[in-house]
Amino acid sequence: MTAMSASAEALLARAVAAAPTLQAIAKDFQAQIAQGLAGEGGSLKMLRTFTRQPSGRERGRVVVVDWGGTKARAGLVELAGGGSVRIVTEEALTFPEAMKREAPEPVFDLIAGVVGRVARAERVDAAPLAFVYSYPARLERIDRAVALASTKGWRLQGLVGRDVAAMLTAALGRAGLARIAVAAVANDTVAALILQSYRARGSDAAARPADIGLILGTGTNLAADLGPAGIRNLESGNFDGVGAVETPYDVALDRELDEPPPGAQRFEKMVSGHYLGEILRRALADLGARTGWFPWGSTSVIAAPFAFDSAYLSRIADDRTAALDDVDALLRSLGIESTRQERHGLRALGAAIARRAARLVAAAFLGTLRFVDPRLDDRRTIAVDGSLWGGYPGFEGLVRAALVELLGRERADRVEIAFVKDSTSAGAAVIAAVAAAQRSEGCSSA
Ligand code: BGC
Repeated sequence: MTAMSASAEALLARAVAAAPTLQAIAKDFQAQIAQGLAGEGGSLKMLRTFTRQPSGRERGRVVVVDWGGTKARAGLVELAGGGSVRIVTEEALTFPEAMKREAPEPVFDLIAGVVGRVARAERVDAAPLAFVYSYPARLERIDRAVALASTKGWRLQGLVGRDVAAMLTAALGRAGLARIAVAAVANDTVAALILQSYRARGSDAAARPADIGLILGTGTNLAADLGPAGIRNLESGNFDGVGAVETPYDVALDRELDEPPPGAQRFEKMVSGHYLGEILRRALADLGARTGWFPWGSTSVIAAPFAFDSAYLSRIADDRTAALDDVDALLRSLGIESTRQERHGLRALGAAIARRAARLVAAAFLGTLRFVDPRLDDRRTIAVDGSLWGGYPGFEGLVRAALVELLGRERADRVEIAFVKDSTSAGAAVIAAVAAAQRSEGCSSA
């Protein structure tokens, strides 16, 4: 490593997240799970989900809506039992940036519009709909979800306190789709968890269901099956026990953003795809101004907030050439001339930020696993999905390495991590089918 990158890394020393620090973070995470469940506050919301583990035999045709970012999708999913799922069709839409701060109705109308296109193309007149709403919401029933403050840059006027299922139902009515009925609302983390369980149990009825669902994409969050407390949506992106590994860049980012406001989503702001590029951009701008390294401050990718895409981190990490030729090509396309030394420095900074994110994820896993099974006596399964997990080279290896450090090899080996790519729509369909079974049994569980 060059002298420059070594010093740059030294600046991020707090981002190293040594094992004892991670152990303390995991302990705090575990304590806050208990606190949240007991209704004693804390930063983990521990929201109820009103679903239960699937049998693997669920069947049916379900219309799905997946809204969790700048894009939303509608689709049609077929469950054939035996753990099998088929996405019959899917259509996406992109919301204009300005819509994120306006009234919610136009957003729901756009979503209903895509549902209409899917329904017409597939000749679906009446069907249950599963709505994946990947923002904080307090469920009161499987088909009633009261919006809490949004994340990932959204702040729709007057949304907080309203039932998003009812709002989607109203929009479907306005679009002439009244026979497509919202049957379930779920978080994307819950969809990942449930899909993994459905697949595992579908091929082996005695298989263990998944214990945890993680999404690591634009945002991040965990769901977990907490036994008697049911399957909960932790909203772990809001976890606040991260002070020990914050750099000055994280502190400034948290303070300067208005959405989510300072103090909210602190874990997410250090871990998820919406933020990693921005942390690196801030580090580069600061180092450029203070040290003369990375003299790129006038280029828009360094000067403009959120201009440094997190996907660049993955591309930079992927370049294994001695002179970092692809990093060079990337920087040139962004209007930046760089030296080989600077490119290595940039790569080291990006790697440190991604490694810290992976280690924080491992600490959150550990806190949750210990809550469920304090000595980790049993085998456990974590279902994961999301663009950062799938896209950053070697991310899973970084999380695994941290788990081995924290738990020892033997216990870490009892934790299976299953990557359930594109789990949202498929998982949501299973949740709707489970809800239908629950309804016909005339009961509901937490
Ligand atoms: C949201 C969660 C969601 C996660 C991943 C977070 O910003 O608050 O509800 O599960 O992003 O999409």
